[in-house]
Amino acid sequence: PRDLRELAQRHGIKIGSAVDVAALRAEADYRKVLNREFNHVTAENAMKWESVEPQRGVYTWADADAVVENARRNRQQVRGHTLLWHNQLPAWLTSGVADGSIGAAELRSILRDHITTQVGRYKGKIRAWDVVNEVVEEDGTLRQSIWLTHLGPGYIADAFRWAHRADPRAKLFINDYNLEWNQPKIETTLSIVKDLQAEGVPIHGVGFQGHLGIQYDYPGDWANVMRRFADLGLEIAITELDVRMVLPVTPEKLATQADYYRRALTDCVSVRACEEMTLWGYTDRHSWVPGWFEGEGSACVMDENLAPKPAYHALLAVPRQR
Ligand code: G3I
Repeated sequence: PRDLRELAQRHGIKIGSAVDVAALRAEADYRKVLNREFNHVTAENAMKWESVEPQRGVYTWADADAVVENARRNRQQVRGHTLLWHNQLPAWLTSGVADGSIGAAELRSILRDHITTQVGRYKGKIRAWDVVNEVVEEDGTLRQSIWLTHLGPGYIADAFRWAHRADPRAKLFINDYNLEWNQPKIETTLSIVKDLQAEGVPIHGVGFQGHLGIQYDYPGDWANVMRRFADLGLEIAITELDVRMVLPVTPEKLATQADYYRRALTDCVSVRACEEMTLWGYTDRHSWVPGWFEGEGSACVMDENLAPKPAYHALLAVPRQR
């Protein structure tokens, strides 16, 4: 294959990237490479609640629309990210809950309206939604959030039901990080899925974010974890893959990073149900990593100048398995 689009075709999967809307608008080279390389995209921030409803009842869809419209023009499918999270909530919502002016019943109807409105707006244009994001803590308990505190654990089933009603054809996912290896998280997420299925709640997939770092061991059991979810009938996606490193960059570190990317794709294509691998940004020019992990970076498959790194070539070389 000459590029990631051809690679995706060879493996019969979707290969995606998170999209930085500011770069999409302002940088022709960023746009060109994005549209050449990827057949799937996720808005990195533009579909989050604080982005789409910064003031109560005031919707700002321009950025999210731009991602969807660019995708349509370039034959890219779209993952919607994300309907329910504990981060990047609008200030009016978190402060209203904190000062008691928004009570539980109202919070529930606000959530229902949010999901109904956003999923409805993009009905037929989003292949898969991250309905709930990061709802399990590292120790396997349900995440402490305004949702759990005020609505109780039933909010998860509600969110899936509301999303399904608004777009019955969209695939609905539960998405999380460290789910590649964290045993308590894995077991709890499996049991959430089983409980939802037992109640007839529409859930179709599980997303493994895949935020890796070469200073940690590669999650060697990942394919087996994927299979456990696949055995429940779920589609599998790697939704936010990146592989960071402690700076400075060296040829050895880039080689290790390339191996991690290679293994992630190899794991995905070794599991029939794994249908999508999305990179959390494709270029080091726009990556969340340096802003979040001091002294770390270089997490993407292309450098700041959009030149392919060893990881890019390692992906292209992964042999067909299905
Ligand atoms: O838009 C404002 C801008 O107006 C302001 O001047 C600037 C100053 O800090 O901040 C800008 O907002 C930033 C936003 O990204 C858009 O660039 C926020 O500070 C920054 O915190 C935010 O970070 C995002 C992060 O989620 C927030 O939780 C990252 O870009 C994004 O990559 C990251 O993505 C998450 C996934 O959604 C869920 N999984 C983990 C993943 C990585 O954290």
